[in-house]
Amino acid sequence: MTTFTPRVFSGVQPTGNLHLGNYLGAIVRFVELQKTHACIYCVVDLHAITVWQDPKELAANTREVTAAFLAAGIDPKANIVFNQSQVPEHAELAWVFNCVARMGWLNRMTQFKEKAGKDRENASVGLFAYPTLMAADILAYLATHVPVGDDQKQHLELTRDIAIKFNNDFAESIAGHGYGEAFFPVTEPLITGPATRVMSLRDGAKKMSKSDPSDLSRINLTDDSDAIARKIRKAKTDPDALPSEVAGLKDRPEADNLVGIYAALARVTRDDVLRDHGGAQFSAFKPALADLAVEVLSPVTAEMQRLMADPGHIDGVLADGTQRARAIAAETVRGAKDVLGLVRSAG
Ligand code: AMP
Ligand code: TRP
Repeated sequence: MTTFTPRVFSGVQPTGNLHLGNYLGAIVRFVELQKTHACIYCVVDLHAITVWQDPKELAANTREVTAAFLAAGIDPKANIVFNQSQVPEHAELAWVFNCVARMGWLNRMTQFKEKAGKDRENASVGLFAYPTLMAADILAYLATHVPVGDDQKQHLELTRDIAIKFNNDFAESIAGHGYGEAFFPVTEPLITGPATRVMSLRDGAKKMSKSDPSDLSRINLTDDSDAIARKIRKAKTDPDALPSEVAGLKDRPEADNLVGIYAALARVTRDDVLRDHGGAQFSAFKPALADLAVEVLSPVTAEMQRLMADPGHIDGVLADGTQRARAIAAETVRGAKDVLGLVRSAG
């Protein structure tokens, strides 16, 4: 068995309206993992353009996601923070993976079906090939672990399938070039904690999403304390009191969601929350949740504002990250080309 050095990679799209789901489902975990792993965090702007983006907003949103990473506590010196489009090896390796992945695999992707909607003929080719670019993001760094929200599970399974197929299809060449049994690692998804799927505040059956037309459905990382409190006050609930055990949240999606959000913000379990708040009415629980959300989020949002006032600094962080990311990705792509038999003629 080839062993791979543990390395974490994850990405967030700069598509605006960064929200509590992104924060609790992804960014908070990114911050924790830097204590134990070498981490690479990427603003995936090439993924963003699989649907049309206003160029000015795309640039602003790229800086905003970067600011959120830094404000949440990601250290860009100890880790790597950069934006995808500046490392051309992502697109290059994605092409290779377009030739490894099968049409049938991509046809099964539920995110494409959701995003393309009824008018599939009119979706971009990039939206269909989105998961092969995601596999390239991860495997360009031979990443072994990928923290994401629950909605990315299927894409990570596809990434594993691509790595396995590449390793099998080119086994002889991989061994012949001295890479042992596997060129790419079979990456582990890290989908854990109480907030891997934060739901809309207006509908417990829909996930909290950047693209929901209702601003009341989500808490944005740019919301001030009043907006946060108002959105929690208006959150949809059922008329019953909170149960005292997690089993009592079954078939109560809105209650389950608010308890899950509380648990993630307080860094405790749902059981812990219900031990303290079981029996409480929402009229009492919602203000407690709002206070906690404001306490946790306001330092982050304030730091984001401060960072965004200095785009030069953010661009400097991205430029430094790009250089360090590129050194790793270039080595992987060079090796993959050798394995594939793509002749190295330049230089
Ligand atoms: P995206 O905004 O689609 O680029 O997502 C960035 C990260 O946030 C990914 O790891 C997603 O899985 C995660 N994420 C997005 N929405 C949610 C949500 N409602 N709950 C938990 N995690 C989420
Ligand atoms: N598809 C992810 C999302 O929408 C973003 C993403 C792109 C990503 N490349 C990645 C996440 C690589 C983890 C690893 O949330």
